[in-house]
Amino acid sequence: MITTRPRGTADVLPGDAAGWRFVEDAFRRICREYNYGEIRTPVFEHTELFERGVGDTTDIVEKEMYTFRDKGDRSITLRPEGTAPVVRAYLENGLNAGPQPVKLYYTGPMFRYDRPQAGRYRQFHQLGAEVLGSNDPAVDAEIIAMVMDFYGRLGIAGLDLHINSVGCPRCRAELRLKLQDFFRPVQDKLCVNCRGRLAKNPLRVLDCKEERCGALSGGAPTTLDCLCPDCEAHFSRVKGCLDGLGIPYIVNGRLVRGLDYYTNTAFEVMAPDIGAQSSIGGGGRYNGLVEALGGPSTPGVGYALGVERIILAMERQGAPVPSRIRPDVFVAAADPSGEEKALGILFALRSEGLSADKDYLGRSLKAQMKLAGRAGCRLVVILGGDELKRGSAAVRDMAGGSQVELPLEALPREVRKLIGR
Ligand code: HAM
Repeated sequence: MITTRPRGTADVLPGDAAGWRFVEDAFRRICREYNYGEIRTPVFEHTELFERGVGDTTDIVEKEMYTFRDKGDRSITLRPEGTAPVVRAYLENGLNAGPQPVKLYYTGPMFRYDRPQAGRYRQFHQLGAEVLGSNDPAVDAEIIAMVMDFYGRLGIAGLDLHINSVGCPRCRAELRLKLQDFFRPVQDKLCVNCRGRLAKNPLRVLDCKEERCGALSGGAPTTLDCLCPDCEAHFSRVKGCLDGLGIPYIVNGRLVRGLDYYTNTAFEVMAPDIGAQSSIGGGGRYNGLVEALGGPSTPGVGYALGVERIILAMERQGAPVPSRIRPDVFVAAADPSGEEKALGILFALRSEGLSADKDYLGRSLKAQMKLAGRAGCRLVVILGGDELKRGSAAVRDMAGGSQVELPLEALPREVRKLIGR
């Protein structure tokens, strides 16, 4: 028997799936309100997409990708994130030729080979949105506001919104020199990875998870020390829009995020009560990504939120998470002769839009009533011999215990009314 799933993966059972569905439905609703269209991209892509898109000196590309050769000897990678695939699809399907900006959202599994721990999985799920084709700082603000609006609707409070500007390639060239100067005297004390990265991409040192690199980065120059006037103005406008919307934030010049495509705005939302993996969502602007993937120079901005961490935060904070979906009605037959009638009524109830079920193990009436109670059914239709002879059935309210007799032909409609639909 094979009874263990791969490390870092999870089974979502019906009791938990109700919470997942609740979060996903709320996300779809907010995406409709903010006018984002759904996009579904493949779960696997050509490896090169992520190498070029996410950046080959990032932890994701260096260490965490599920990469394999397929039977046609192509290098394939299970997507570690959704932004590069969305940009690829935007270009491949000519969405850049239509009216801009293009606002897209997605949901689905992502894959990263990292050490699993609370809130960190190898297969995890993201809710994400991307806006392509506008450099307006108001879009950055809309993106951030949408994220905070969404958490609020789910009843998650006490979150810290960190924002930063990582500037444009010009600002970054300056920062790079400053960081190299700063780290050069202590480079032997950095972790092996960072020693290698110092020449190629010193910004990554600021995002390294190794404790010693974190400690050495203490007084390092930040992105905010190197912003050019245009990037400075962009960041001011983003902050101004957030102020106007009444959204509190913390400016954090050390926030560089783990992906290389960011330019200008970067942000991350921390939930202090879900443990070490406290980032429940993050995103930012990526004005160079479309071009890096071979398209025309096109601005973009977006975010992704971790579903597992959202649900953890809701549970920790006691926000209402539906734990199971109860059937409305149970159809119980008092003896086997009522079985066929029960099936007919069951299907009629379902075509009234009710959720209905019956017993399939030949239980006694008493055991069927117990089963209906345990499933949380509001009503039970009882098909007893006497009532059936009169062409009717008893309908019992499980909470109050009251019972009415209803004619069979009107039963599905009347039961729907009793349920309140
Ligand atoms: P990210 O920060 O790598 O950004 O991931 C976004 C969110 O996914 C995190 O804040 C976290 O909630 C969740 N997450 C990441 N890794 C794991 C994991 N191993 N287990 C559980 N949850 C995880 C991105 O992926 C960017 N594509 C976001 C973006 C969109 N930027 C612009 N547009």
